[in-house]
Amino acid sequence: MAVANDIYKKMTGPGASVIRKMFEEGAQLKKVYGEDKVFDFSIGNPDLEPVQAVEQAVLEVANDRTKGRHGYMPNAGYTEVRQAMAEKTNFEQNLSGKPGTGLGEALTAKHIVMACGAAGALNSVFKAILNTGDEVLVPVPYFVEYGHYVSNHGGKLRTLTATEDLSIDITAVKKSLNERTAAIIINSPNNPSGKIYTKENMSDLVKVLNEHGKTTGRYPYIILDEPYRAICYNGKNPVSMFPLYSESIVVTSFAKNLSLPGERLGYIAVNPACKDVDVLVNACIFSTRILGYVNAPAMFQKVAAKCWNCDVDYSSYINRMKEITRAVSSAGIEFIEPEGTFYLFCKVPSNKKGDKDDFAFCNHLKKYNILVAPGTGFGCPGYFRIAYCVSEKTIRNSAGAFKKAVEDWI
Ligand SMILES: Cc1ncc(COP(=O)(O)O)c(C=O)c1O
Repeated sequence: MAVANDIYKKMTGPGASVIRKMFEEGAQLKKVYGEDKVFDFSIGNPDLEPVQAVEQAVLEVANDRTKGRHGYMPNAGYTEVRQAMAEKTNFEQNLSGKPGTGLGEALTAKHIVMACGAAGALNSVFKAILNTGDEVLVPVPYFVEYGHYVSNHGGKLRTLTATEDLSIDITAVKKSLNERTAAIIINSPNNPSGKIYTKENMSDLVKVLNEHGKTTGRYPYIILDEPYRAICYNGKNPVSMFPLYSESIVVTSFAKNLSLPGERLGYIAVNPACKDVDVLVNACIFSTRILGYVNAPAMFQKVAAKCWNCDVDYSSYINRMKEITRAVSSAGIEFIEPEGTFYLFCKVPSNKKGDKDDFAFCNHLKKYNILVAPGTGFGCPGYFRIAYCVSEKTIRNSAGAFKKAVEDWI
């Protein structure tokens, strides 16, 4: 065998990325039928172009001639960029407290580690915190890649059943906690459900983790994976968790909010109230180095520092959301009401045979040139995900295809 057994098993097994495969099939179908005849809802690649402020910042950074601008830097990133990310985190997490004030203490540059996207940030954090055999909890539905990121560093992802409305099932959390539990991942707004977990739900989670910590001496980290934080609807926002729980870490990126997924820029923000904050930050920095990322991309760090707080109009995602919910509703498909992101999580309609198999339904949709991702990949069989970050025209044109596909399915 030319490659490692574990990698071979993962890359060829059922856990291999179904979404990437769909994306590639979509490109193939477009060649055959033409762009406008294929309804490719497979991948969360934002279709909004970066706003003017981002383009301007890119030009300014490109025109900078300061000596050493392309050189190595401290592994954690440029200090002024980390300071800007600290300011951003303080705003999002509602923090203003001075050093030593505990929960509520504001971040400074020293609490930030720049990373290669949220994916790089997650890998650095897991490398930093996991001992072999440690467990990481995640409520379903969840981002497909978490399992790989956790096992990359000797950990085991343990999935938690959700309640009917896909909130976090606190009883399931309680049952799953044990002495090996290192962390729980919270992704809000959620990919694939578009759900924002409520303050009540999050407070209940904190209570359970604190009780567990008190009895075992190990307080699991809450890892807040927040690349979609800015894309929320109807004035809703994800809960600011730093003032509620000290052992919390944000991982995020500029992939979705600034439409820069290819530039691979993100960061880790550690709660200053965290018990071992300095060791944890240093471990994340060291992990970034030894994983071979070394540091986050130099030019885009500077771009982000210039425009992290620029205005971005996400109303077209809201229009797309309305358009897609109209299309699937009229086809008789049920879905989870999205509160953010650009994903719609739908139930597979059951047919006469009582068949709710999401793989079978996604394959059926392909016959109508509709590409979507099966829910099993997100830990939710019987569902499928529509990534509606595509043109409104594509969504409108897909309505008839959805209707026909469902009629033929049931
Ligand atoms: C929930 C979630 N976390 C992390 C990532 C990784 O983001 P990035 O491209 O910034 O690495 C994604 C990407 O789609 C995501 O949906």
